[in-house]
Amino acid sequence: MLDDHAKTSATPLQIATHMRDLEAQIKTCQLCRLAKTRTNAVPGEGNFRAEVMFIGEGPGYHEDKQGRPFVGAAGQFLNELLAIAGLSRETCFIANVVKCRPPNNRDPLPDEIAACAPYLEQQIALIKPKVIVTLGRYSMSKFFPGERISQIHGTARVVDGLLCVAMYHPAAGLHQASLADVIRSDFRKLPVFIEQARKMLAPPPEVVEERVVEAEAAREFVVHDVETAAVLEPLPTPEPPVVVQEASAVYNIEDTIPDAPAAVEPSDVPPTARAAPKPKKAARKKEEYTQLSFLDM
Ligand code: URA
Repeated sequence: MLDDHAKTSATPLQIATHMRDLEAQIKTCQLCRLAKTRTNAVPGEGNFRAEVMFIGEGPGYHEDKQGRPFVGAAGQFLNELLAIAGLSRETCFIANVVKCRPPNNRDPLPDEIAACAPYLEQQIALIKPKVIVTLGRYSMSKFFPGERISQIHGTARVVDGLLCVAMYHPAAGLHQASLADVIRSDFRKLPVFIEQARKMLAPPPEVVEERVVEAEAAREFVVHDVETAAVLEPLPTPEPPVVVQEASAVYNIEDTIPDAPAAVEPSDVPPTARAAPKPKKAARKKEEYTQLSFLDM
């Protein structure tokens, strides 16, 4: 798994690769009894660079059939709630506490939750959301242990450096009509929480500066073919400058050549004997390559 430092410098491609590996592990997982009754594991889906991650309880009937989270009736309501908050399934990431459906939609058992926990933790570590929204009791108790959803729904708390928001599970709004509007109004607060999290997690200016310098340095090594857009090998390192030999070795022929200089400083060596001047880096690059922009990397 990537540690914090690696995540900071991981490229989107590296993150996507890790996420795909994790998905493959989840789909073939045999760590608990739910593996025996599932049709499909449901790893989760959405944007790997999401600012907001939603965590539900576990797949239901439709999710188990399709291998996708929140695609049944609760999922329809979740889509409406996302729109209320100005979000979409494409901009956020949706996962569950357990990745396989408990038979007959029973509650997940503690050992099933524990077996599945590393998957969720790796997803959080890779995506690095700014806000985690818990949907229902099981994900709430991971981030707000000992709390009651009826007391803390629609409120946020900083947990492990992330802003966590406790929400009722969308299914609660389907089963109890009076809760649907409560849930809608809780979701209306989300943009404010997201803005707070952005401010809270904005890196200090010196870190921004450091990342720009790192990105600039990395850019030096990424070159693009103008026509094919293929990434090319880095430019060859220029030949090392010719080291001017000891003056005596070059001119140790005083006996035969009259007036040969007794000692020669490198600056006195005729231009033909010196290293050819390095072409200017910028000009050379312009000639042969178009660099990827820092944002393309
Ligand atoms: N309920 C959940 O908690 N998760 C799903 O994916 C679907 C329904």
